[in-house]
Amino acid sequence: MNRDRQNSSAGFDPKIGIHWQNPEPRFTYDEGVFGPLPEFRRLDDIRRSLRNPASQGPDPVYSIVMDVGRDEHRDELARRMLLFGVVAYAAGQIGEEPVRSQGHIHAVAPHCGWSTPELFEIWEGRAIIYAQETASDDPGRCSAITAELGDKVVVPPKWAHCVINADPGAPMVFGAWCDRQYGFVYDEIRAHHGLAWFPIVNKDRMIRWERNLSYRFSQLATRGARTYPEIGLEPRMPIYEQFAKDPDSVQWVSDPARFEKLWTEFEM
Ligand SMILES: [Fe+2]
Repeated sequence: MNRDRQNSSAGFDPKIGIHWQNPEPRFTYDEGVFGPLPEFRRLDDIRRSLRNPASQGPDPVYSIVMDVGRDEHRDELARRMLLFGVVAYAAGQIGEEPVRSQGHIHAVAPHCGWSTPELFEIWEGRAIIYAQETASDDPGRCSAITAELGDKVVVPPKWAHCVINADPGAPMVFGAWCDRQYGFVYDEIRAHHGLAWFPIVNKDRMIRWERNLSYRFSQLATRGARTYPEIGLEPRMPIYEQFAKDPDSVQWVSDPARFEKLWTEFEM
């Protein structure tokens, strides 16, 4: 099959040879590309993190394929402890809330001793990456980044985060670089019944935000995606292609100590 074949979005070529068909996406892989069958996240899996846990909505909420790539990169990915994943969100709403993940913090990866960062890239639709510095009573800085087709968003180490389909009228698909020893921590988020801000879909289908009163007062910064020259991201090159051309350029995902000084004040 041709690596440049169009996806259902016909909008963005992630340059990896993965295709998807909505709704309830099935993923297909070009020859020379590996990847698993999708896992489906059910509404019941994320219910406890909703503002209104009794809400109804699309089920499954999203499908996910973890550890995908081109065959020639298999060893390099393992050696560098890098993992590439793709997630496809359903269109629609969960009650008055948008389709989203429940939110998590990355567990400390034993190989590097860090709760690792994550690099997102939007492949179809429009997303909001929401993140907060901590999931303790004081959530610290809270940011909601609206990302359009091809935009990249970096969530820094240790931050609690979730991904939201910003447009209830359309599916949303993203690719992401993560640590190969990935694991998720949910305790503090669940103890607070979710993250510090709940996205709500207005009548005009725009997202507004409501504070989660289980946390101390916080302010939410909302803005569009930026570029990340300070960590070497090429704004116009798909993130898998950037790895293919220069594997060291995304090594910070599984070796965040490379940018240790940047993470403390990092602005998403
Ligand atoms: Fe994550």
